[in-house]
Amino acid sequence: MAKILVTGGAGYIGSHIVNLLGSFDHEITVYDNLSTGRRESVVNGELIVADLENLDTLEKLIIDKKFDACFHFAGSIIVPESVTDPLKYYNNNTNNTLNLLNLCIKHKVNKFIFSSTAAVYGMAPGGVCSEDMQVEPINPYGRTKLMTEWMLEDIAAAHENFEFVILRYFNVAGANVDGKVGQCSPLSTHLIKIACETALGKRDKMFVFGDDYDTPDGTCIRDYIHVDDLAQAHLDALAYLLKGGKSTLCNCGYGHGYSVNEVLEVVKKVSGKDFIVEKAPRRAGDAPKLMSKAEKIAKVLKWKPKYDDLDLIVKTAYDWEKNLK
Ligand SMILES: NC(=O)c1ccc[n+]([C@@H]2O[C@H](COP(=O)([O-])OP(=O)(O)OC[C@H]3O[C@@H](n4cnc5c(N)ncnc54)[C@H](O)[C@@H]3O)[C@@H](O)[C@H]2O)c1
Repeated sequence: MAKILVTGGAGYIGSHIVNLLGSFDHEITVYDNLSTGRRESVVNGELIVADLENLDTLEKLIIDKKFDACFHFAGSIIVPESVTDPLKYYNNNTNNTLNLLNLCIKHKVNKFIFSSTAAVYGMAPGGVCSEDMQVEPINPYGRTKLMTEWMLEDIAAAHENFEFVILRYFNVAGANVDGKVGQCSPLSTHLIKIACETALGKRDKMFVFGDDYDTPDGTCIRDYIHVDDLAQAHLDALAYLLKGGKSTLCNCGYGHGYSVNEVLEVVKKVSGKDFIVEKAPRRAGDAPKLMSKAEKIAKVLKWKPKYDDLDLIVKTAYDWEKNLK
């Protein structure tokens, strides 16, 4: 049994990890300010509603609970907002993470699992991203996540008992296959969520940004990973660290992708609804193709994904969205 701190565990991804953690004999404490998360998304463990900025509350909790491990999901995640309000991102993603890491080192929370992102790869020449390739984020969001990766590497080098797993997520999508949790995020920029909202009439129409990329149908290609498979990767990372595994960094994706048009076709098929999709100009900074090289996570963390199926990803997202108030 391990004592686990989950920052941001009321959010989209964190809630799926908390859901899966419930099948194990771990003591779970979620720390979340509910800025984008929801109380009812925390289906296991104890929820502490507080901000990472509230260092007294956070330190007292860490002292009281003597956590063995921390999953760090809390953060701000909207790329366009990070461009217009970079300070929010440097404060919430970099500064708050630095403060959390200070407390982890001070109170010997020595296993740390961090949500990073394919955004650290930037334009990714060639479109297939391997963990050892050059990272060149092109927006403040990606830079703040990369800064945390660097902090973790430097801290682990200096503190021999501290070990981390960094997971670089590709395009996370879908909802829990048992329908217990799903994506509630306001102002989401995720394609599958937006398409499901449009199919359900929650939006009048949606946009495809650019159809003249150098891809077979001209629209961007991304590597969509089911959120329950992503959650399993976190459990594998925890098991790896608890067994004495050394610090490591892995991509989290399936290693192949779908174009925007292919995804929209699947949403129309699964929902049985046609909806208005308008063409819009390319957005600055959208790489034509972003897919993971997916071998390392299988080898190091023994991750075996179960839901690599776009129809299923879309169906779980659509069913969740239909019931979402
Ligand atoms: N969703 C994706 O596709 C994706 C892709 C790559 C990486 N990530 C990373 O995964 C993590 C989780 O993303 P998500 O999609 O679940 O986002 P989300 O917005 O649904 O979840 C973030 C959670 O953190 C909480 N939070 C934010 N700031 C906080 C603070 N200062 N103090 C306490 N709680 C705070 C929010 O209330 C929310 O519950 C983020 O770090 C994000 O950068 C997400």
